[in-house]
Amino acid sequence: MTNNIDISNAMTIHLRDIFSELPKTPTFADGIRRAPKRKFVLSQKETETALRNALRYIPEKWHKEMAPEFLNELLTTGRIYGYRFRPEGNIKGKPIDEYQGNCIEGKAFQVMIDNNLDVDIALYPYELVTYGETGQVFQNWMQYWMVKRYLEMITREQTLVVESGHPLGLFESMPESPRVMITNALMVGCFDDQENWHRAAALGVANYGQMTAGGWMYIGPQGIVHGTYSTLLNAGRLKLNIPDDKDLRGHLFVSSGLGGMSGAQGKSVEIANGVGIIAEVDDSRIKTRYKQGWIGHMVDDPADAFGLAKKSQNKKETLSIAFYGNIVDLLEYAVEKHIHIDLLSDQTSCHAVYDGGYCPQGLTFEERTELLKTDPLTFRETVDRSLRRHFELIKFLVDRGTFFFDYGNSFMKAVFDAGVKEICKNGKGPTDGFIFPSYVEDIMGPMLFDYGYGPFRWVCLSGKKTDLLKTDTAAMACIDPNRRFQDRDNYVWIKNAEHYNLVVGTQARILYQDAKGRINIALKFNEMVRNKDIGPVMLGRDHHDTGGTDSPFRETANIKDGSNIMAEMAVQCFAGNAARGMSLVALHNGGGVGIGKAINGGFGLVLDGSERIDRIIKRAIPWDVMGGVARRAWARNEHSIETAIKYNTEQKGTAHITLPFIPDESLIQDLVANAFE
Ligand SMILES: NC(=O)c1ccc[n+]([C@@H]2O[C@H](COP(=O)([O-])OP(=O)(O)OC[C@H]3O[C@@H](n4cnc5c(N)ncnc54)[C@H](O)[C@@H]3O)[C@@H](O)[C@H]2O)c1
Repeated sequence: MTNNIDISNAMTIHLRDIFSELPKTPTFADGIRRAPKRKFVLSQKETETALRNALRYIPEKWHKEMAPEFLNELLTTGRIYGYRFRPEGNIKGKPIDEYQGNCIEGKAFQVMIDNNLDVDIALYPYELVTYGETGQVFQNWMQYWMVKRYLEMITREQTLVVESGHPLGLFESMPESPRVMITNALMVGCFDDQENWHRAAALGVANYGQMTAGGWMYIGPQGIVHGTYSTLLNAGRLKLNIPDDKDLRGHLFVSSGLGGMSGAQGKSVEIANGVGIIAEVDDSRIKTRYKQGWIGHMVDDPADAFGLAKKSQNKKETLSIAFYGNIVDLLEYAVEKHIHIDLLSDQTSCHAVYDGGYCPQGLTFEERTELLKTDPLTFRETVDRSLRRHFELIKFLVDRGTFFFDYGNSFMKAVFDAGVKEICKNGKGPTDGFIFPSYVEDIMGPMLFDYGYGPFRWVCLSGKKTDLLKTDTAAMACIDPNRRFQDRDNYVWIKNAEHYNLVVGTQARILYQDAKGRINIALKFNEMVRNKDIGPVMLGRDHHDTGGTDSPFRETANIKDGSNIMAEMAVQCFAGNAARGMSLVALHNGGGVGIGKAINGGFGLVLDGSERIDRIIKRAIPWDVMGGVARRAWARNEHSIETAIKYNTEQKGTAHITLPFIPDESLIQDLVANAFE
């Protein structure tokens, strides 16, 4: 029979080495956002299992003290976070040289993890939530320490396997293998739903990693500013007849949310030279964005918000305004006063609508937190009522000429779940889609992803601003602004990036690029590292990209051959990136839209200046992008077919994409009509 002494002696990496004694009872600093209580659905037996599970990390001598503490955490927060093991004070992504490690990748990933948990970046830092209401880096602080210790130990001959935040162990591999392979919340089909995920998360066996939180690649709200800027510009081109070389001057954009990703909206509308009003119920988030300079004005009266906006619109000046209050109240006012809104969206966390992601009309932010805790059923009803009203108001505005689009937050699905069948194209259910456009289906998909343009990003691991400025200049030199309108937008973006002061946390930059652009920039940066012009660089991307995500309500919403319910592209992307030597690969369930609704993956590649990395860049980056373009081409997406034709010509003899023949529509329609007569 095994005992804890044998177990302890058999491990060289565990908490005993990190903590010589049990850390003190945790304290929580005032003014730091805390996660609301998560749904707790465990039976008595399952609660026992959850306790046993958490104690797996804890040396036996501390079990007596930790068992009641863990039980209390579980009953009061719905999860066991292991607060006691959180490092005291703030956590910061430090310069790479300040970390311990046997290889550069081991140190580099510690920078990324700490950056994802930085109080200035993370939504609920005590609960390890980086963004998107529930997107966690790890499930608990024991995992944080264990993973960090593994990363200190890892060599170029090993791979660390992380399953839902849990470090399974270090396994032998090769220098060209990934150093870290991460999966988050991948569930077996018949259990792949929100209810079972709640159970698994409370048991301590599932982590909702969102996209970049659980893949350690979040770079603060900047990561999303560029995407939001491109979405707004392209929405304007599509619906407001703005020419390709002009911007949003004089136009009004209204939305909600100044949280993790939504916090990018104010800045993005400013970069696109428009005027924006963003409603936010949480005062602390408004203040954070204001302090960062990501919001120009704060008001708490709809009349002031629209008044200020009008003045700026008339002068064709840019302005971002935070409205402290509920988006539904703001829209009530616009409808009542016949105010014209050009572009309208919503970025409340509707993917987790009953978990606190959407604050219903009539409740303050504090009241929603309380009601969620004390009476989740009434909370649910209040959310549904508010969503139904929200929908009514959008309809009024759309009838008056506003362009509304869903911003990938599952808003339309949430409205449907609240009982509004009218939001479905077929008036019954979401299988044929929803009546309003969604930002990927109608804007980002056809205008960016189908060509391979996606949220490429990098972090200067030295922590030096000078390195970031050098990479900005080098990246700019790789872009030809006259090639396509997307290149012009990207050129303008990178040219102004420093001016807009976008860095929060590590010295990072996002830059939408296609396959060619990404390869050129990556090779250039690696050369700069080799020449010691700059320190090492972490390359990565958001999972929200051309090839990384299968998500029928979002990333793959513009795939119309019926394959949008398949998750094979994301899995192939993950496996292919691992096979080609990316330093980190990640595959998650649910990113952005919720459990069971998406499979998404991403990568990290540490540029150390070596020729080995040049080779990986040349093979892995084209795969990462073109796998997605190929799948989109096969789904008959026009721009992807164009891009794939060009690729087949340029890559003749080295790579090849299968292309679809397109039948004459009348042939299909007549034939099928006859058969169904
Ligand atoms: N920005 C993007 O490009 C992008 C892309 C895809 C998906 N999303 C989705 O957008 C949503 C938001 O992401 P996030 O990281 O900002 O989440 P978040 O939870 O950090 O922020 C949402 C914010 O909305 C506020 N809010 C909630 N209900 C409100 C209401 N009724 N009125 C006004 N404010 C309200 C909350 O207080 C919170 O600050 C998520 O569902 C995410 O998946 C965003």
